[in-house]
Amino acid sequence: MAARDRIVFALDVGDLAEARMWVDRIGTRVGWFKVGLELFSAAGPEVVHLITSSGLKCFLDLKFHDIPNTVAGAVRSAVRLRAHMMTVHISGGREMIRAALTAGRQESEALKIPRPKIIGVSVLTSLSQDDLSGLGVGRPLREHVGGLVELACEEGIDGIVCSPADLPFVREKVPRTAVIITPGIRPAWSEKGDQKRIATPSSAIQAGADLMVIGRPISRAQDPAYAIEKIVEEIESSRP
Ligand code: C5P
Repeated sequence: MAARDRIVFALDVGDLAEARMWVDRIGTRVGWFKVGLELFSAAGPEVVHLITSSGLKCFLDLKFHDIPNTVAGAVRSAVRLRAHMMTVHISGGREMIRAALTAGRQESEALKIPRPKIIGVSVLTSLSQDDLSGLGVGRPLREHVGGLVELACEEGIDGIVCSPADLPFVREKVPRTAVIITPGIRPAWSEKGDQKRIATPSSAIQAGADLMVIGRPISRAQDPAYAIEKIVEEIESSRP
C-alpha cells in the first residue's frame, strides 16, 4: 500500500462548503476522507457524492448500531451512495455484523461495484472501566475489547478501529487480510490538542496500523499540503 493511501483525513467540519474546500485543497494527497456524524447530519449524502465524484475514497464513519434488519438497510444505502468503507459497533452483536457484511456483499454485487469494507468499532475510547461496569460489563476493559475484536473477526469483519495503545494486542487477533485503523495520530512536530493516548505515524505503523485517521495535524497546519507530505515521508521511512 502506498504511504499516502494509509492516510485518512478526518473531515471534521460542519457544512458542505467547508468540506468542499478541504476536498479541493487536499484531493489525491491522501487515500481517504472520513465523514462522521456531524458532517453527515449537516450535509447528508451530498458530501459522499462530493468525495466520490472527485474520484476519491469515502470512509463513512456513522458507527451503525441497531437491529440486524435496520443495519442491513443502512449498509445497502451507504453502498448505493458509493461509500468505500463504513463502521458498525461490534457490540451490536454477531447477527448484526453478519447482516451488515451480507448486505454489503449483496448490494455491491447487484450494483457491480467493489465490495465496501465494513469496519468494526470495539469500545469507544471515551469509556472507562467504571463506565463499562456501569453498563454491566464484568470483564476488564482490555479483555472486553479483545473479546469484541475476536467476535467480529470470526464473522469475517473487514477491519477494526482501535486506539494506538491497543494496536499490539489487537494486531495479533486480526488476520492480515483485515485492516486496522487508528486515530490519535500526532507527528512529533504537531500539537497534541485534546488527544491523550497518541502515537506518531511511524510508531503506529510499526505497531501494526494499516490506516491512520488524521485530522488536526493536517487541518490546523500552516500548510496542510506540506504537513501531509511530511507524514507521507515519515510513513515511507517506517515500514512495519
Ligand atoms: O484531529 P484529530 O487528528 O484528533 O482527529 C481524529 C479523528 O479521529 C476525529 O474524527 C475523531 O473523532 C476520531 N477519533 C478519535 N479517537 C477515537 C475515535 C475516533 O480521535 N478514539
